[in-house]
Amino acid sequence: RGPRALEPDLAGRHVVISAGGTREPLDPVRYLGNRSSGKQGYALARTALARGARVTLIAANAALPDPAGAEVVPVGTAEELRQAVTKAASGADAVVMAAAVADFRPAARSGSKIKKREGQEPEPVRLVRNPDILAALSAARGAPGQLVVGFAAETDDVLANGRAKLARKGCDLLVVNRVGEGLAFGTEENEAVILDARGPETVVPRGPKDELADRVWDAVVARWSGAPP
Ligand code: CTP
Ligand code: CA
Repeated sequence: RGPRALEPDLAGRHVVISAGGTREPLDPVRYLGNRSSGKQGYALARTALARGARVTLIAANAALPDPAGAEVVPVGTAEELRQAVTKAASGADAVVMAAAVADFRPAARSGSKIKKREGQEPEPVRLVRNPDILAALSAARGAPGQLVVGFAAETDDVLANGRAKLARKGCDLLVVNRVGEGLAFGTEENEAVILDARGPETVVPRGPKDELADRVWDAVVARWSGAPP
């Protein structure tokens, strides 16, 4: 990475990263979940540490080793993630929402294991919406000048869907992953476009998740330096 090793460009910065995927319990033994591995979020944490940042990693069900030097806060549900990230975001220079947050949770959580009964159809599961954490962080900003970054996985119309989502969420940068064809979920590689709310977009070709993570920090540093779009 050249001169970056000599001059850590995230030194003195506190960044908060959410990673993994939330799980919404149905009963003490079952949950609604998603396939996020947490690898991209952990790559963001490792690269930020390497560039000199103080890192708080809000880790939702990621079975990955703690990045050395990060403060790791384990969470399970979207509500736990919301609380942890909101608290950590207070005073932070940047918040990156790489976690896959469940859009819905079961309306009720059974205190005891749900049992099947002979000759009886199962009860339907009623779902309710989870709050949009990224939109709330973007609206509330935990510090003056705080940069808020979102992630999105899209299969079609990647750019159009990404731009619409960026506007809807109100964040500064949105990293849009192209999913499908052996990309994203659980894999070692990613391919993405980093959309800047001010206009520019950076295409990051298929490559290691650490590479995409470094390009995201480049975009964050460019914003902080006030570089024109
Ligand atoms: N996100 C969030 N809170 C939610 C849902 C999503 O903070 N309840 C964040 C994710 O962490 C991600 C970004 O929003 O950074 C985009 O997530 P995505 O699922 O693509 O957006 P949604 O608005 O849920 O749109 P969709 O209907 O396409 O799932
Ligand atoms: Ca969603």
